Amino acid sequence: MAGFEITPWDVTGKVDYDKLVSEFGISKLNDKILDRVKKITGELHPMLRRGIFFAHRDFEWILNEYEKGNKFFLYTGCGPSGPLHLGHVGTWLFTKWLQDKFDVALYFQFTDDEKFWFKDKSFEEIQRWTEDNMLDVAALGFDPEKTHFLVDTRHANLLYPIAVKFAKKITFSTVKASFGMTNEDNIGKIFYTSMQAAPAVIPSVLKGEDVPCLIPLGVDQDPHFRVARDVYPKLGYYKPAILHSMFWPALKGPEGKMSSSDESSAIFLSDDEKTVEKKIKKYAFSGGKDTIEEHRRLGGNPDIDVCFQYLKFMFEEDDEELAKIEEEYRSGKMLTSELKDIAIGKINAFLKEHRKKRAKINKKILERDWLWQE
Ligand code: TRP
Repeated sequence: MAGFEITPWDVTGKVDYDKLVSEFGISKLNDKILDRVKKITGELHPMLRRGIFFAHRDFEWILNEYEKGNKFFLYTGCGPSGPLHLGHVGTWLFTKWLQDKFDVALYFQFTDDEKFWFKDKSFEEIQRWTEDNMLDVAALGFDPEKTHFLVDTRHANLLYPIAVKFAKKITFSTVKASFGMTNEDNIGKIFYTSMQAAPAVIPSVLKGEDVPCLIPLGVDQDPHFRVARDVYPKLGYYKPAILHSMFWPALKGPEGKMSSSDESSAIFLSDDEKTVEKKIKKYAFSGGKDTIEEHRRLGGNPDIDVCFQYLKFMFEEDDEELAKIEEEYRSGKMLTSELKDIAIGKINAFLKEHRKKRAKINKKILERDWLWQE
């Protein structure tokens, strides 16, 4: 395919979101839906106002059920193969907002099996990243009474019986067509979608009645749930509903996405102040002109400027302030170096707070028994 290519494991090229909406068969979020959300939540999260979460499957159904008093639960997850980056956190802080505003449970999956099958890393290393990532996720402040962590290999007792039934409904040719698997892929990979689908019905299994599920995710994860939406009605469950986020731009420019496996594409939660400053100054793709003189005369382009995009995605929540920065950068009044300094300051302030919160997380969450809260 010309232009861009998306699988749950790799994104290349410059993503055309309109094209993606029609290729994936998902629906754009529109004002009517956002107004309904606003009626319930009082305000709209910046990522909804700004179209970072831009599409959905069956979100209107979720709202209908909610208004009837039938609460949904949230489900999302993390593939633990390395340090977490800003893109992960953006999606999860939005998920936390949903949890707070709708007052609902969250099931959060750590797919240690997936990362072992898909990455060239030992099982032990993946376990270490699982524990590391869990501390970061816990530090984001999800309601501990309403949040359940699931680690695939540890909570197999809950996940596997569902995955078994799911797997029986999928053929190898579906997996090949949906994910581009080949005969050479290990059989763990071929089975894996069954595990990622499982949490979408865990509350229904536990309760013995159907509970609607809403999954906020980066749009690359959609193919797993397209399969799940096919299979679950056949097993007597609801189809999970989905909210899709755009990708966080990679540091070095408009192609691909921020990714754990590419050091120079991402700002990690573990990056210290100096590293953040260095990465942004050195790598952050700029919408500025080559010389100051030219920049003052012609202005910069915030639409392609990675620092401006990070402010828009998460780090400047105030719409007026963001508009002011955009205007000044576009007009040439603000220089790239100044814009970079704003982004460095904001990102480092966020990471400093995050480090403090992470240090306070009770290590008990890493113990097997504590993970599953009934
Ligand atoms: N596969 C995802 C990743 O590699 C992790 C994940 C598991 C996930 N379950 C999910 C992501 C549900 C979104 C929604 O990052």
